[in-house]
Amino acid sequence: MHYLAITKDMLVEDTEVGCDLYLRSYVNGDPKYVLFCCGDEQFGGDRKGVLIEGNIEKLYIPSKDYKNFFKYQEAHLPDILANNNLSSREKSHAVYHVAKNLTKEILKDICTEEVDLDRAKNWVKYTIGFILNDENAFSGLLSMTSHDYYTYTHSLNLSVFGLLFGKHLGLSTDNLNTFGTGMLLHDVGKVEVPLELLNKPGKLTNEEFGVLKRHPEAGYKILKEKENLEERSLKVVIQHHENYDGTGYPNGIGGNEIDLYGRLSRIIDVYDAITTKRCYAGALNPFPALTEMGESMNNCFDMELFKEFVCFLGPKSSQLVKDDDGIVCLKA
Ligand SMILES: [Fe+2]
Ligand SMILES: [Fe+2]
Repeated sequence: MHYLAITKDMLVEDTEVGCDLYLRSYVNGDPKYVLFCCGDEQFGGDRKGVLIEGNIEKLYIPSKDYKNFFKYQEAHLPDILANNNLSSREKSHAVYHVAKNLTKEILKDICTEEVDLDRAKNWVKYTIGFILNDENAFSGLLSMTSHDYYTYTHSLNLSVFGLLFGKHLGLSTDNLNTFGTGMLLHDVGKVEVPLELLNKPGKLTNEEFGVLKRHPEAGYKILKEKENLEERSLKVVIQHHENYDGTGYPNGIGGNEIDLYGRLSRIIDVYDAITTKRCYAGALNPFPALTEMGESMNNCFDMELFKEFVCFLGPKSSQLVKDDDGIVCLKA
């Protein structure tokens, strides 16, 4: 069995964690995991005291229970982000994993009654607080943008990039909320595109591309029915493939007919896609990606915004490197 290590400060006092917590010790050089607190027991001050006294920083969760732990972190995200004992990196970790899990669940349930879009809105709200109040949030979150290409990681990356870039552009907190939620949900229409088509290596036929191109409208329709989203969040969903010169889809609108959020999402969507390894193409590093976008795709973008995006990411892009798992990290 695999175990996930967690920092003791991720645990909020007097809560039920929902998964068993273990301590690790070594016997003859082999790790041994000993049950410390059951998932349905209260994690109270007395247990925290034991950890502090024993100078124990890490606890362990069995791999089958990761999901429960991400749910626990989601429920307690405001407490976790307010905890001064946690580093920006640890907070970024929590923010990213919570969102990865919730985006996955939202995409799975999007066509059902059970889907709870308030989870997405709350995550955006707390993440904005983190970004605005913690100067290290930028590098922490950026280094978490994971480069495996699933719709949910891509959606999450877009929201993270969108919020960071939105802050750089001076968007108000309300606007960041609307924009970030739209970014998180921008590709939900892909639930109506067959998986073999989304995962197809090589070029799509015209007919297949026609099917793929329906996802902005499909997403808009699905979300419009949910009623609790701002109209401007939906602009991101319907407009993120519109090109500035009017050659995009679904409506072929151009220039400032495309909402600011639509124009921003077009840039970030392309950037995340081409810096990510997909089934049909390798990943470009940040600097060549920006160059490629500026040289051969400039018809797609509002160039004023694109230049600003390069300024926003440019100085950092030379510091971005990939680790062995293909995760982008900031060079130390
Ligand atoms: Fe899309
Ligand atoms: Fe996308």
